Amino acid sequence: MSPFELTRTLPEDATGAALRADVLHGLTATPKTLPPKWFYDARGSELFEEITRLPEYYPTRAEREILRDRAADVAAATGARTLVELGSGSSDKTRHLLDALTGLHSYVPVDVSESALRGAADALLAERPRLHVHALVADFTARLALPKTPGPRVVAFLGGTIGNLLPAERAVFLRAVRAMLDPGDAFVLGTDLVKDESVLVRAYDDAAGVTAEFNKNVLAVLARELGADVDPADFDHVALWDRRAEWIEMRLRARSALTVKIPELGLAVPFEEGEELRTEVSAKFRREGVRAELAAAGLTLAHWWTDAEGRFALSLATVAG
Ligand code: SAH
Ligand code: AVI
Repeated sequence: MSPFELTRTLPEDATGAALRADVLHGLTATPKTLPPKWFYDARGSELFEEITRLPEYYPTRAEREILRDRAADVAAATGARTLVELGSGSSDKTRHLLDALTGLHSYVPVDVSESALRGAADALLAERPRLHVHALVADFTARLALPKTPGPRVVAFLGGTIGNLLPAERAVFLRAVRAMLDPGDAFVLGTDLVKDESVLVRAYDDAAGVTAEFNKNVLAVLARELGADVDPADFDHVALWDRRAEWIEMRLRARSALTVKIPELGLAVPFEEGEELRTEVSAKFRREGVRAELAAAGLTLAHWWTDAEGRFALSLATVAG
């Protein structure tokens, strides 16, 4: 195997077909919604990386601290030879795991963003020319055809991205993760934790407006991919804490009554003044909830590590015996 392979698990037009289906369904629903995976074209992936460097956005720094301190424990607990990472993005924090897993043979980053995968693989291979990087352009909520690589295998899902799935989607997703694992394999999961509302809202509504631009980027994706006649300036960025669901919601609020025409779908989507489109939920977790969701999927919580300030957690789960 060459040191870098990139596989598209989807036919060329599958992304376009999935976007059309999600837009048709989400923009004709009440309330209007879109799934967050459509943020991540090349520009959206860049904006997310910018978010990770904002003073208000603590999750990346908190998870990096845990990975720095605990990567050796992950290595000792798993002895992994293959690391599969779902929603790997820039793979930047992953370096702590790659460094600690001394017997590692293959790294399999999985992401919908081909530009993020290529950038990550270029950077990693420049530092680690002998590592086998088998990148998959794929939706991690779909059935994944993983390459044949040596075990034991660790599947990692970092960044708190699990919080971007709705509870029912999380249950299906966690069962699919369980099905990827053999006895002796492990799942490493990053979860952002419930905390003070003001800290949470600031993390999703930063002073520099980068998160607002990230949120509005989904409109640019609709314009480019589907010919939607939509002006991002017609919408305001909204971030609010839902204390019952314990999640942050990002929305786009129409500044005035308007209609978004999407000729490719034969659709004209009316917005009333102030009407909101939900673009993302970002659920925050507690230890007991994570343990219970893992258990329901046949996974046993074996380790729970947090950063010193208790903002973020990294869990290591094994296959229930
Ligand atoms: N794990 C990185 C990146 C988190 S950003 C970190 O912790 O910093 C979320 C990543 O998941 C993005 O790179 C995005 O492109 C990817 N992503 C979002 N939804 C996805 C999906 N359904 N399938 C595959 N990748 C997805
Ligand atoms: C990728 N995911 C975990 C981020 C989050 O915090 O929910 C996406 C994001 N949305 C706004 N800022 C960052």
